[in-house]
Parts: sequence; structure tokens; C-alpha cells
Amino acid sequence: MTDNTPVPSPGAIPSGLTLRHPVPSDHPRLQVALADWWGGLGGEVGALQRKLLVPRLFLQHFAGTSFLVERPDGTLHAFLIGLLSQTDPRTAYIHFVGICPDGRRDGLGRALYERFFALAREAGRSQVRCITSPNNRNSVAYHTRMGFHLEPGDHLDEHGTPVHTDYDGPGLDRVSFVREL
Ligand SMILES: CC(C)(COP(=O)(O)OP(=O)(O)OC[C@H]1O[C@@H](n2cnc3c(N)ncnc32)[C@H](O)[C@@H]1OP(=O)(O)O)[C@@H](O)C(=O)NCCC(=O)NCCS
Repeated sequence: MTDNTPVPSPGAIPSGLTLRHPVPSDHPRLQVALADWWGGLGGEVGALQRKLLVPRLFLQHFAGTSFLVERPDGTLHAFLIGLLSQTDPRTAYIHFVGICPDGRRDGLGRALYERFFALAREAGRSQVRCITSPNNRNSVAYHTRMGFHLEPGDHLDEHGTPVHTDYDGPGLDRVSFVREL
């Protein structure tokens, strides 16, 4: 007997949702998502830092390697901001990813990453890199599940996660991930 259930292709977006590249006019609602979708991580300072980490230039100059997912009513459901390194021709970089709180654990984060991996491979890249905050435990778990390795840091935190102290400035510790393509 044959199972005729369609097998979703890598990067398939759940039905009813639409994928496109972002445009500069998406900036205000991405700013709202960056403040609201991280579960209050880092308080108001954390929200401001995230907003400042995604200025409009990403939507002007890195739109072709970034994705935005909308619901049928046009509201924002998810996004990925990525780029191809200009300095290291082996490397593609995922700068930010966010799935709306109601849309999580449904395979969309994986789908957006698979899309980005495919794009990066087509561009001749052999590895993907990204960083996250050590206190973003969901992000550490998700990236580990997505096949990323945690690069050695200068110490291990209480969860055994390697941390790079002051990576992005005083007090801005980071965890560094790399995944071969
Ligand atoms: C992290 C995030 C992008 C994951 O997106 P998602 O759509 O929920 O992830 P998926 O459903 O595609 O899950 C992909 C895999 O990761 C696993 N995973 C996802 N979140 C996880 C978590 N919190 N803990 C453990 N595993 C997790 C899933 O089980 C799945 O594994 P499988 O495919 O092998 O079964 C989403 O939770 C999010 O937007 N969080 C807030 C923003 C954020 O922290 N972004 C990352 C830092 S920029």
C-alpha cells in the first residue's frame, strides 16, 4: 500500500501563510515584533537593543537574503534577517529570526532556516553562523536542534553553554553558533 500523504519539501511554508522578501516599509512592524515577540527578554533595555539591531538598512540592502511571512490578512507572522558575508566567501549569517508567539513549534523556524540554507548553498557558501544571548534559552535549544555547533567561549554558564564574555561590548555576552552546509 502506498501512503499518498504529500511529503513537505524542505523549507515548505504552512498553508495559508505567504512568504516574500521584506521591503523598507516593513520596518515599523518589525520593530514592534522585536519588542513584543521575545517574551520580555532583557526588559525595556533588551527590547530597545533588539530594535536597534535591525535598522532599516537590512531591508534596503539585505532584503534578497531575508524573508518575511504574512497571514492571509497581511499581518506579520514571522521573519528572518540574513546576509551573505562580504568578508568571508564561505560564510552566510543569520542576524535575527522571529516567529510570532502563537506560531511557534509548528516547523516555521525550521522552514525559514532551510530556505536560508538553500539560498546560501546556491551562493556557494559552506557554513552558516549566528549568535544569541546566553539568557535566550529557547534560541540555544532551537539552534542546537537545527544542527548548529556551539563554538568554545571563555567560560561555561550554569547550563554548560559556552559563553563569549563582552562579545558585543561590556555586559553583552554572546553564544556563537556555526553549522556546516
Ligand atoms: C527560536 C524560534 C525562532 C524557533 O521557531 P519555531 O518555529 O518555534 O521552531 P520550529 O517549530 O521550526 O522548531 C525547529 C526545531 O527546533 C526545536 N525547538 C524549537 N524551539 C525549541 C525550544 N524552545 N526548546 C527545544 N527545542 C525547540 C523543535 O522541536 C524542532 O525540532 P524538530 O524539527 O527536530 O522536531 C522561535 O521560538 C522564536 O521566534 N523565538 C523568539 C525569538 C528568538 O528568540 N529568536 C532567536 C534569536 S534571534
